[in-house]
Amino acid sequence: MKIGATIGWDDTHTCIRYIDQTRLPGHYIVVLCRTVQRLATAIRRLEVRGAPALGVAGAFGIALAAATCKKKDLAAFRADVQKDGDLLAATRPTAINLSWGVNRVLCALEQAESIDAAKKVALAEAKEVAREDETCCHAIGEFGAALLPKRCTVLTHCNAGALACTSWGTALGVIRSAVEQGKDVKVLACETRPLLQGARLTAWELSQDGIDVTVITDSMAAHLMRTSTIDAVVVGADRITGDAVFNKIGTYMHAVCARHHVIPFYVAAPLATFDPSHSEKEVEIEERSRDEVARCGTRTTVPEGVQVKNPAFDATPKELVTAVITEQGVLRPPLDLKALTCHRTIR
Ligand code: MRU
Repeated sequence: MKIGATIGWDDTHTCIRYIDQTRLPGHYIVVLCRTVQRLATAIRRLEVRGAPALGVAGAFGIALAAATCKKKDLAAFRADVQKDGDLLAATRPTAINLSWGVNRVLCALEQAESIDAAKKVALAEAKEVAREDETCCHAIGEFGAALLPKRCTVLTHCNAGALACTSWGTALGVIRSAVEQGKDVKVLACETRPLLQGARLTAWELSQDGIDVTVITDSMAAHLMRTSTIDAVVVGADRITGDAVFNKIGTYMHAVCARHHVIPFYVAAPLATFDPSHSEKEVEIEERSRDEVARCGTRTTVPEGVQVKNPAFDATPKELVTAVITEQGVLRPPLDLKALTCHRTIR
């Protein structure tokens, strides 16, 4: 099956269309999302997830807010759309792409002199954000593929693939581009407890493309780095501050192990993920519900009354990162992230 765009605009129904990722790999279901409230729920439930896809969701969310706003007065219209933007940006705090996408379309909309013009500008800008995401992923893929040997095994964590973007992917974009160039790439996909984005999503999308993928539990990674040949770790990112890379919980553990075993640790991310003016301590790590850890389907896996921690992300100090692969090239140590000018970043 060919994976369609993860998220986009449905011109026929004037609404957002996305693949419901909570149903994969069992069911491929495309949802038509007609209200901002429904989109906010979809983001909280991880029906739409992955930093770049959240950026696109935020952008289309503003287009949807504008399209569905009933206000007849421009100031009141703007206030309503801004309120919807605030709601969306607050749904998940760690991936900066979400507020970036929201703010980018809000900024574009501010220039409009009528409600009609604002609706058109918002939709055009959101479509541009989605188009750019695709272009960025392909550029990241090309730059990253050059770093991989002709024959290699790559370990990845979570899902930084087509499903986390509009298509192609960042970390998986690097793998797709390498395979397209004729390289023989084998992928080890960490299952990614507790929500299994690696097992459910990375394994699904790579296998749809005929790419060699093996799922391992997260705790097997260190053992395999020690006992077999892993040529590189390639992961995505939810936010890159001046001093650290935020990504799915478990990423830091892989970075530490990779350093110990002298395996390159690459982060693939568009410039929209960069937040160089902030530091690790200033970023909120989303804490998710107890049930995600304490239940597995209908089964209870942790005794009632026992406390559970469920941070969705961790921070990897930049010293552990071999290189960051962006759409503009490969950043290498000392990774002067603070000095980076993010021309795409509007907030
Ligand atoms: O909680 P999720 O599934 O949204 O977390 C996603 C990740 O951590 C990805 O690795 C990250 O967003 C990079 S996606 C290109």
